[in-house]
Amino acid sequence: MTLSGQEVQRNLRVFARRWAGYQGKERAEAQTFVNELFACFGSDRREAGVVYESDQVRPGGAHGFVDALWPGHCLIEMKRPSEAARLEAHRAQALDYWRHSAEPSSDRPAVDYVVLCAFKAFEVWQPGRFPMHPRAAFSLDELPDRYDALLFLGRQRPLFTAARRELTTEAAERTVVLYRSLRDRDASDSDELQSFVLQTVWSLFAASLGLLPSRPVQRIVRGLLGDEGGVRSSAADLGYLFTLLNRTDLRARGGVYADTPYVNGGLFQEPAHVHLERDELELLAEVGEYDWGQVEPTIFGSLIEGFLPRDRAIEAVGTRRQFGVHYTHESDILKIVGPTIVEPWSARIQAAGSVDDAVRVLTGLCRLRVLDPACGSGNFLYVAYRELRDLEQLCRGRIAHLARGAGVAPPEPASLPQYPLTNLHGIELDVFATRVTRLVLWMGHKLAADRYGTPEPPLPLPDLDQAIIQADALRVVWPEADVIIGNPPFNGSQRLREDLGDEYLRWLETTFGIGIRDYCTYWFRRTADHLAPGGRAGLVGTNSVAQGRGREASLDYVIERGGMITDAVPTQRWPGEAKVHVSIVNWTRAPAVLPEAFRLNGEPVPGGIAADLVPIALSTIQAQRLLANQGVAFQGPIPVGDGFILDEAEAASLVQLGDADYRQVVRPYLIGDDIAEDPRQEPRRWIIDFGLRSLEEAARYPEALAIVRNRVLPVRQSNNREYYRRYWWRLGEPRAEMRSALRGLQRYLAVGATGKRTLLAWCAPSWCPSNAVYAIALEDDYAFGVLSSSAHGLWAARRGSTLKGDPRYTNTTVFDTCPWPDPTGERRGRIAEAAQRVVTERARACAGQRGLTKVYNLVDEGGFADLAAAHDELDVAVAAAYGWPAGVASDPYEVIPRLMRLTAEIAEDRRPYSPFPERRTDAGAEEMTLYLVE
Ligand SMILES: C[S@@+](CC[C@H](N)C(=O)[O-])C[C@H]1O[C@@H](n2cnc3c(N)ncnc32)[C@H](O)[C@@H]1O
Repeated sequence: MTLSGQEVQRNLRVFARRWAGYQGKERAEAQTFVNELFACFGSDRREAGVVYESDQVRPGGAHGFVDALWPGHCLIEMKRPSEAARLEAHRAQALDYWRHSAEPSSDRPAVDYVVLCAFKAFEVWQPGRFPMHPRAAFSLDELPDRYDALLFLGRQRPLFTAARRELTTEAAERTVVLYRSLRDRDASDSDELQSFVLQTVWSLFAASLGLLPSRPVQRIVRGLLGDEGGVRSSAADLGYLFTLLNRTDLRARGGVYADTPYVNGGLFQEPAHVHLERDELELLAEVGEYDWGQVEPTIFGSLIEGFLPRDRAIEAVGTRRQFGVHYTHESDILKIVGPTIVEPWSARIQAAGSVDDAVRVLTGLCRLRVLDPACGSGNFLYVAYRELRDLEQLCRGRIAHLARGAGVAPPEPASLPQYPLTNLHGIELDVFATRVTRLVLWMGHKLAADRYGTPEPPLPLPDLDQAIIQADALRVVWPEADVIIGNPPFNGSQRLREDLGDEYLRWLETTFGIGIRDYCTYWFRRTADHLAPGGRAGLVGTNSVAQGRGREASLDYVIERGGMITDAVPTQRWPGEAKVHVSIVNWTRAPAVLPEAFRLNGEPVPGGIAADLVPIALSTIQAQRLLANQGVAFQGPIPVGDGFILDEAEAASLVQLGDADYRQVVRPYLIGDDIAEDPRQEPRRWIIDFGLRSLEEAARYPEALAIVRNRVLPVRQSNNREYYRRYWWRLGEPRAEMRSALRGLQRYLAVGATGKRTLLAWCAPSWCPSNAVYAIALEDDYAFGVLSSSAHGLWAARRGSTLKGDPRYTNTTVFDTCPWPDPTGERRGRIAEAAQRVVTERARACAGQRGLTKVYNLVDEGGFADLAAAHDELDVAVAAAYGWPAGVASDPYEVIPRLMRLTAEIAEDRRPYSPFPERRTDAGAEEMTLYLVE
């Protein structure tokens, strides 16, 4: 499961609280601790292949036991809690394990990361790159805030920037407080106040990194604070500084303004002249104390963009930690920037075989144009830029390496191209966010220059007016781009109308011709249209893009336009207030060379990814409802009124009455939990069900009708559906067709709608299925067998899958689309026998004391061998009936494609299909007409 950064943090808070008091011995709980730690990052330790106490045989024959080893990734060495203050003493041992995690004979390199942990203290090492010092060291308390140093436990790239993050959050918070103070007393209009903040922040940042000599902002503020007479004002003094930064023709010759350079880039176009009161000057002095060179621009940008113009009160948010929660974590941004930019270009750089080749790759890289068409405060663009500059360095290194290998002089660094900031393009509706994006990119530009050195002078700032524009992205022409990334706005159709108005929605409908869908859908379509062949895209969307109509309008369209999805996260929670589940989808359009590797949730999958974000082989998008399957499975009646439902005592007292045969209308009521949890799969409740009787007929059961009149009628009267008001004594959706199909059967089958397995129960005709149960109008063991087989279970899991949790079994999505086999009489008999054996073994396993969920959980863990064997026999018999070899029965990659082929043949009439010849289709027709006349 892929988790967002914020979910990981939340899990770790619970984890840290749970383990805070642990004082035990090293090994006693170490494995539980490690299991839980992995789970916090969304990984299952066992599934991931992490082994405990892995035995390392050393060259001399000695043995070492690594506490936890995840080959190819990391190792964890646990110490007892009392060693927390002495981790240093254990480093040598942990690093020794690291060295021995490499296995030259099988070409396996050493793991990338080492965690040395004493429950209360952690050290994270990346010894292959930083052999002398840990990359991060923190306590259990600090773990939730330092989670990103351990991201490799969730198969993501770790980040070691915690200290900067904390500083950034504080600096942003103080900046927002200063802005609020100015705004609350109306110190100037909001436009000038925002300019004031952006200009001040850049000046502080630039001074900290040596671009502005002698910290002019801080000195001016100090001067103003010392000005007891209050003669001077920041409006003039800081305003003059900002004016100088904007002018080529004006240079100060001395004092605090001396050597102030020309900056421009549009940032100081309107120098802000804002007067600060004393307390505000004090706040600004505080803001000036931060080490602005250490500020993380993308987090800073997101925070001030999110808090400054909008009325999100920090006070209401509460603590600074919560203030810091409001930004998209870099680990999530990398789920897009990684597959769209870093991985393909790293591969190209590595593949360059000669100096000329590598120079060509560098030239291509430096021409890459990246667009974020809903860029917010520029966080995706910033990360993309930083990674591009890293790739540029990697490529320069490769060129030098290849030159050395070939014995030629490497090209002069200055003669090689450099990635230009202006290749980044952003479109953003919000004016302030647009300005923040530019600021963030300028900051990133300077940081990159400091990191790598650059032939370009850092000032004046590159002009980003044309690159980062303020506009409605759906209404403007997009600049040409090779890579399109971002997190376009999410908004369901209801809120869209409220937020954007009818006219805008009409425009959307006529322009895109797909009706009204989640707002992000339109970005997927524009991106699919805009990318040239070979281009790449990575977008975050609500997970509706992978489901139903939303999918048809977005990811189906992406694929129709030649898109190949290469890397996706089908669903994960997205941080922030929206509380939405998102899908993250990376694709490439019509690539010249077909991609070979595909990943879902970070795991490789074979063959490609379908628009419903499952491996293509497992996709059932194209499955159609088969005519011959319809009218067999039904959702149980929906009561529309809890008052119909009775407990045991009430039902018993009704059926004892002598004035009518109440058994006709008081029926055992089977719900999904009865199938999953009751040891006999029997109803534990009752329901008053008048079927389709008229009111006069219902009145023949006066006490039952009185209950319904008292408990249901008042609720129904206010229901806005005419049918529910008028026929208040009937179950809301009484399911006439189901009643008709069940008539005359000795028993019928029921399947629970939710749950990770398809669990079936035999029902007596008198039972009424609830609306969370599907009734299947079949009474032979053969039917039970087919529906309990692994083939049907795999189909149900795929067809019923929802992106939010357990699959849902429904008649339309699962039963009606699943092709049945067409076995000979003998094979049919074998399935029926195997089915009876499953029923017998199931009853034995339940033993009158545990339900099916518990039984099958134990089967998964190796229990109830006879039941497991009965299922195996059944699965093989059903596979044989389909004409498949026995070995494929439980393999989704074998079963789903076979069922898909079969269902397509049937739907296209290429194969005769009559799965239920024994069913009477006219049963109960008479009764139905009688009751449906009304
Ligand atoms: C979900 S945010 C993503 C921003 C940023 N990447 C992040 O992760 O915080 C979507 C952004 O789209 C912007 N937006 C909304 N409607 C837009 C439109 N029609 N055209 C361009 N941008 C739009 C919003 O102002 C917001 O900044």
